[in-house]
Formats: sequence, C-alpha cells, structure tokens
Amino acid sequence: MSIVAGLTKGSVIPESMAPVVDGLRIETISILGGQGKNGVPEPLKRLDLKMGDIVSVVGPTGCGKTTLINDIELYANDNTPTRRKVLINGEPHPEGCLLDPRKNPMALISQHTNFLSDLPVAVFLETHARIRGLEDPGAAIEKTASFANQLTGEPIILENAMTELSGGQTRALLIADAVIIGNSPIILLDEIENAGIHRTRALELLKGYAKIFIFVTHDPRIALLSDYRVVMKDGAMQKLVVTGEEEKGVAAEIRKLDDLMLDLRQRIRAGEELSREQLCARLRQLGYIA
Ligand SMILES: Nc1ncnc2c1ncn2[C@@H]1O[C@H](COP(=O)(O)OP(=O)(O)OP(=O)(O)O)[C@@H](O)[C@H]1O
Ligand SMILES: [Mg+2]
Repeated sequence: MSIVAGLTKGSVIPESMAPVVDGLRIETISILGGQGKNGVPEPLKRLDLKMGDIVSVVGPTGCGKTTLINDIELYANDNTPTRRKVLINGEPHPEGCLLDPRKNPMALISQHTNFLSDLPVAVFLETHARIRGLEDPGAAIEKTASFANQLTGEPIILENAMTELSGGQTRALLIADAVIIGNSPIILLDEIENAGIHRTRALELLKGYAKIFIFVTHDPRIALLSDYRVVMKDGAMQKLVVTGEEEKGVAAEIRKLDDLMLDLRQRIRAGEELSREQLCARLRQLGYIA
C-alpha cells in the first residue's frame, strides 16, 4: 500500500511569524520515505510538516524512531541507511547549514545527553547568546533559566557547573536554550518523558512558539497532545494518525490519570506513605469508581 501524507492540520502561523534562518523563511520540512530495516520501501512515502505543527513519532523499542529524527537533523539525502530525503520548503538543504549553527534551522535534544564542559550554566548560556549575536544576552539567560525551571523539580542554579546538573535539569536547559537562545525553527526531542521533566508544562510552553516540534515518545499523553503522529515499525514510517476529536477526549481522561500518578510520585518523593483509602478517594473523586 502506498500512502501519501499531506498537510492535514496544525495551527496557522501568520507568515510574519515564520522563522527566518540565514535569510531563509522556513515554512515546511518534508521527509521523503526511503526504506525500512529489511530494505522494503517505506509505506509512508512523504510527510510534510508545517510551521506550528507538533508531531509525535511512536513505535516499539528499536523500531527506528531515533534514526528518523537523526535523518531529519542530518538533512538525509539518500545518503543514510534509510535512503530518506529531507527537504526544507520543498528543496534540499541550503549549502553549509550543517557546519554553521547560525544557518542551521534544526536543534536536536537527544536521548542521552551529558555535558563535558564544566563551565557555569550562566557562562555557557552567555557564550551561546553571544555566538548567536543576541542584543541582550543577560535577558536571554534569565528567560532561558525561567523557562527551564518551569520544567524541573529543583531549580537550576546559574552559578553551578553544567556537569552538576541532573539529567532532567540538563534536558530542560537544552530545550529552553534551543527555543530561546538558539531560536531554532525545528526542534527534535527524543523521549523527554524519561528525563523526569514536567511534560505537559513543556508542551504548553512550546505551543506558544512558532516552530515545528517533533517528539519521539512512548508517552500517550504527549502523543495525544500532538497534532498528529507518525507510526514506525521495522525501521519504516508506516502511517500518519491525525489526533481527532475522539482522541482529544481520551487525552483529557489520560491527563486526569496521569495527574494522579504524578501526584502519587510527588508524595513518595516527599517521603509520605500512601494508603489504599486515599487512592480510592481520589479515584472516586475522578469518577472512576463508585
Ligand atoms: N530504515 C532503517 N534501515 C536500517 N537500519 C535501521 C533503520 N531504522 C533503524 N535502523 C537501525 O535499528 C536500530 C534501532 O533503531 P533506533 O535506535 O532508531 O530505534 P528507536 O525506535 O529509537 O528505539 P528506542 O525506543 O529504544 O529508543 C539502530 O541500530 C538503527 O541504526
Ligand atoms: Mg531511540
């Protein structure tokens, strides 16, 4: 079966807000299907993502989700094992953008992130802000830290070394840095749920920016809060599922259950002991038991 996925949905971003990188106004990125692990052509032949879209990539462990976003980050051009091609505004990538971060519209927050630099957080952010030519690096650092701290349990101390940050703080800082200082129009995020950051808060904050966000996720809440999701299997893009009204209703229920789980986790973290009675009271309150 051959499926051609077109632009189906997504928030409409006024043209004036579409991000410009090195003189290029980014409007769409397209992924042209290549082949799966077994060399069979991918069922999803083309995927067009438009500014403002929030997209999830789902599928079992080892099915090729990270490989797909790596292809996007590398602007694959029939030169990776998947034989995919990535187009910006319908064209292959502009020359030199892989080498110069100011010309590169992509930012990837990878699954395994460690800092080698022991610079203080503030110095790291300031250096990045200066490289990007921001007029007021101080304001950018403040905004970035405040964004990141909305996603973490314990706030990030700007004087601390980057190597002292926890896994969740590191990812929160990288997301904030890519959105605010890097101002990257296309942000690829690999499994942020495992970093222990506040996922729904992240999605709420990110929805306020005119960017394309691509989330690799095993988390139903992130998948259902996305405009649509790419389903992967055997290294190949199988199909595109648009989040319809029915699923938005399901998402609201998942949100209640997930909030309950988060609350339980928070109590355990705070050293409390849980009781069946308390749990049943909460489930009753939510209308799941009589
Ligand atoms: N189309 C493909 N052709 C050849 N190899 C592939 C293809 N897609 C994925 N692979 C290989 O399959 C392996 C698993 O892929 P990948 O790490 O992308 O999976 P994943 O879905 O991200 O898994 P996880 O959920 O565990 O993070 C990798 O070694 C990758 O190189
Ligand atoms: Mg992966």
